[in-house]
Amino acid sequence: MIEKIKTYVTGLDEILNGGIPKGNEVLIAGPTGSGKTILSLEFLYNGALKGEKGLYVSFEEDEKAIVRNIAEIGLDISKQVDNKMIRIIKYDPYRFENLTDLLSMNIKETGATRVVIDSITAINLYIQEAKDIRKILVDIQTILRDNNCTAFLISEIPSENNKMISRFGVEEFVSDGIIILYYTHVSSEFSRSVLVWKMRGSTHSRKIHPFKISKEGIVIYPREEALIKL
Ligand SMILES: Nc1ncnc2c1ncn2[C@@H]1O[C@H](COP(=O)(O)OP(=O)(O)OP(=O)(O)O)[C@@H](O)[C@H]1O
Ligand SMILES: [Mg+2]
Repeated sequence: MIEKIKTYVTGLDEILNGGIPKGNEVLIAGPTGSGKTILSLEFLYNGALKGEKGLYVSFEEDEKAIVRNIAEIGLDISKQVDNKMIRIIKYDPYRFENLTDLLSMNIKETGATRVVIDSITAINLYIQEAKDIRKILVDIQTILRDNNCTAFLISEIPSENNKMISRFGVEEFVSDGIIILYYTHVSSEFSRSVLVWKMRGSTHSRKIHPFKISKEGIVIYPREEALIKL
C-alpha cells in the first residue's frame, strides 16, 4: 500500500481518499486570490504540528510578510518558524542564486519532508524558453524525489481562463497530482471551489467541491458539489 501524507486541511484528505501519496509533487493551480498560499501554508503548519518539517520557497514575499498575512486568518505559524519546524525563504532570481541549488541545500539543512514552491509560474520572470523551464522543473522534481519530499508547486493561472491549469502548459507533465482552486462568480457573487484533477497512486473524488476561507482556515465540503460554469 502506498503511504499517504495527510494534509489535515478540513475536507481535503476526504476528497483525496486519505491524503497525498508520499513523495508526490502536486500542482496547486488557481487564479490570484483563490487560496493557493493559504492552502500551502496550512499543509506545512499541520505537518509541523505532527513533527514533519516544512520548507516554503517564496518568490514574492519574505518570511515576515508571509507570517503576518497568514496570521490574519488566525493561523499563527511564528512558533513553528521560531522552533525551526518551518523554514520560509525568499528566492530572488536577480541575485543570481541557482534555484535548484538553493532548494537542495535548504531541504538538506532543514530535513524538510513537506515542501512548497510559491510559485513555479514566477520562474518565467527570469526564464522565458519553455524547454528551459521544463529542465528546471525536471531538476526540481529530481531533488524532491531524492529527498523523499511531498511537495506543493503553486501555479498561477489567469482569472479569466478557468480551463487552463498552468501558464506554460509544461508544469502538468512533471507533476504527480493536480489540485485546482476555482474562484468564480455568478453576477456579482464570488464563490470558491476545488477539484482534484489527478493524483497518481490514489483514487479521489472527481467532483468539484465548494470551500470557504474562514477564521478556521480552509474548509472543504466533501459532501457538497459546486455548480460552476467553466
Ligand atoms: N480572514 C479571512 N476570511 C476570509 N477570507 C480571507 C481571509 N483572509 C484572506 N482571505 C481570502 O483569501 C484570499 C487570499 O488567499 P491566498 O493569498 O492564499 O490566494 P493566492 O491564490 O495565493 O493568491 P495570489 O496568486 O495572489 O498569491 C484573499 O484574497 C481573501 O479573499
Ligand atoms: Mg499566493
